[in-house]
Amino acid sequence: MTETQQDLNTQIRQVSHEIRNHLSICDMYSQILKKHIEKEGLKNDSINNALNCIQKSIQIISTNVLDLKSINSNHPQILDFKNTVIKSVEMSKAYISDKNIEFDTFIKNSANINVDENRFISCIINIIKNGIEAIDIKGKISIIGEVKEGAAILKISNNGKPIPPNKREEIFKQGYTTKQSGSGLGLHICKKYLESQNATISLTKSTKSETRFEITIPIC
Ligand SMILES: Nc1ncnc2c1ncn2[C@@H]1O[C@H](COP(=O)(O)OP(=O)(O)OP(=O)(O)O)[C@@H](O)[C@H]1O
Ligand SMILES: [Mg+2]
Repeated sequence: MTETQQDLNTQIRQVSHEIRNHLSICDMYSQILKKHIEKEGLKNDSINNALNCIQKSIQIISTNVLDLKSINSNHPQILDFKNTVIKSVEMSKAYISDKNIEFDTFIKNSANINVDENRFISCIINIIKNGIEAIDIKGKISIIGEVKEGAAILKISNNGKPIPPNKREEIFKQGYTTKQSGSGLGLHICKKYLESQNATISLTKSTKSETRFEITIPIC
């Protein structure tokens, strides 16, 4: 290992350490908040949902940070397709911010899939986040799922600005971005992970009225 690589490794370890410290603080306080709410008998679904999303996000970042130490760790587990998608959709709603976005989620049926939960959820969030970002102010995101012929199929669409035909391959390449603060990693990470699990992701349509990504995952 060269000196530069060693420096980089040390830096990664230190940054990971600091991120994990602060994540644990966020995690601890969100747990305290949850307990307070339960203790005071406040039944507020939207606060509960927000706290659950925060805790799941913390878990996902923690695994990502751990990945920096053991690059590409993968812990597949048996998950219910429908529940996992619904959980991911709830988490992605945080990106709506002040836009007027209608979500339409319909998961027709379900089956077990064998994937790393945090990584799979991250993929769905990345795609939905892109969909939200493609919408200027007002629009619609639709998430349609179905199990058929030995696979779970998930279609995620939005009605924002379409992707030009000559960029449809480019979008999956590492570093390709059209956003001022984008890093061009979201779709690349999704594709790499899904393909490593014998799943696929593709852009099946991009017109003024609909841009649609489709994921196909083998069922157990
Ligand atoms: N649903 C979508 N509608 C329109 N364009 C999209 C959509 N999804 C992806 N793109 C295009 O593909 C590019 C790459 O997407 P990707 O998620 O990989 O990176 P990013 O969103 O730019 O940055 P980040 O790394 O933060 O996700 C985007 O910059 C955008 O131009
Ligand atoms: Mg993105």
